[in-house]
Amino acid sequence: MEAQAVKSNLVLILDYGSQYTHLITRRIRSLSIFSLCISGTSSLKSITDLNPSVIILSGGPHSVHAPHAPCFPDGFIEYVEKNGIFVLGICYGLQLIVQKLGGVVGVGEKQEYGRMVVEVVKECGEGLFMGKKVGDKQVVWMSHGDEAVVLPGGFEVVARSEQGGIAAVQDSERRFYGLQYHPEVTHSPEGMELLRHFLFDICGVTAGWKMEDVMEEEIKVIKSMVGPDDHVICALSGGVDSTVAATLVHKAIGDRLHCIFVDNGLLRYKEQDRVMGTFEKDLHLPVTCVDASVQFLSELKGVTDPEKKRKIIGKEFISVFDAFSHDLEKKLGRKPTYLVQGTLYPDVIESCPPPGSGRTHSHTIKSHHNVGGLPKDMKLKLIEPLKLLFKDEVRELGKILDVPVGFLKRHPFPGPGLAVRIPGDVTQGNALDILRQVDEIFIQAIKDAGIYDEIWQAFAVFLPIKTTGVQGDQRTHSNAVALRAVTSQDGMTADWYYFEHKFLDDVSRKICNSVRGVNRVCLDITSKPPSTIEWE
Ligand code: XMP
Repeated sequence: MEAQAVKSNLVLILDYGSQYTHLITRRIRSLSIFSLCISGTSSLKSITDLNPSVIILSGGPHSVHAPHAPCFPDGFIEYVEKNGIFVLGICYGLQLIVQKLGGVVGVGEKQEYGRMVVEVVKECGEGLFMGKKVGDKQVVWMSHGDEAVVLPGGFEVVARSEQGGIAAVQDSERRFYGLQYHPEVTHSPEGMELLRHFLFDICGVTAGWKMEDVMEEEIKVIKSMVGPDDHVICALSGGVDSTVAATLVHKAIGDRLHCIFVDNGLLRYKEQDRVMGTFEKDLHLPVTCVDASVQFLSELKGVTDPEKKRKIIGKEFISVFDAFSHDLEKKLGRKPTYLVQGTLYPDVIESCPPPGSGRTHSHTIKSHHNVGGLPKDMKLKLIEPLKLLFKDEVRELGKILDVPVGFLKRHPFPGPGLAVRIPGDVTQGNALDILRQVDEIFIQAIKDAGIYDEIWQAFAVFLPIKTTGVQGDQRTHSNAVALRAVTSQDGMTADWYYFEHKFLDDVSRKICNSVRGVNRVCLDITSKPPSTIEWE
């Protein structure tokens, strides 16, 4: 090994498809250490280019014995040994290390996950379980399945499960470590402490990754990228990501940034006034507000298929955007060169899906679009200043950039807006108006109850059916609405939120009493899966 001091302080995660991989990255960043995650089958060059100090091989649903089981590239072991890089394998990652270094991984009879107790079997000085004594136990979240049965030379077992299985191994000399459980999940209560000890004490990484530095670095990058006469455009959706991205770019290049906010007729109650107020008064962003509601709604008239609705909305956004860009060109005497997008890290991480799934990237269930499918002749280059950040980090960055905290905590709102909350034709009757009023009552009640921040997303849905009611001694035949509120980490999975009965009772009464055309309120009590968050 060529002795090398810790070089970059980057902890690189090689992803083998575990549902917890992103969590490892986040946990490490929460220690103020910079961490990135790339596909576990990335080329050696993509790994060496990043110059990591530590590499973590994630868990995954595969068996190392399966044909085409994902693996690090040829030359990986030589590279880490030569450069003194510390390697930690978690579950599948541990098995990869064992197999590739000449040990034996036994084929497990069943795949099982669960809470288990592991016991320290060897005092290990400065090693993984520093300070623990033989016989000390701890609860962990373990994955059963294949297991290491014969370790490569130089490795020692430092912890075992109650069933005697290998739970933790190390070869401190060669800097390889492995855990047959997930230290990154909260079900492993001492897992975070172990990660902290591994990174700071064993690997010697130093904490130094701060959001202020990220901001300064991004501003520097944007300044060096955008020439002094270049102009940049950005579509603001009213959401956190595009707002923070635009604010950052504005800080770097000032009014050579040109933002557009499109009212597509599918916005929430008073949304245009509210977000334009924040953009102009609080953030001083140069924004052109375009009211294109007539254009959007006339194209959507009579359209009932959800994907068709999304496609139409996408196409209309592009045409409004195109017109904006041409107007700018006339005004400035030159075409804008760059486009800002609020792409986040989870959108760019390549993950390694289970074998046989036929997938290489996450599966498209709905064709989500930011204003991304731009006309080819625009030839805009992209600025994506948030592409290494998670949502909570974007909120932190927003705070530093003085984006009002209330704005940063807004629930996500889909690009196609209320169109995906009115099953069927969005122009039917006064569905949009009814929905806006119901939604506003619901959201205001949630805010008044002080539970807005506990909820990932809450909204109302207009149901395109009429039901019988009795209001003010009169029989009515009016629309039903549904209320949906979910908790979630990232929108990929979600649970429905448990409201108190009194809250629901009050909201339901208020809606029926004050929104003309509604005589029934339902509550959506499905999680995701099997449902999606939005109704379309
Ligand atoms: P689903 O309904 O797929 O939603 O469970 C997950 C998250 O994505 C949002 N969403 C969209 N966002 N364009 C967007 O920009 C879309 O077409 C779209 N559809 C859903 C949804 O609000 C939730 O936060």
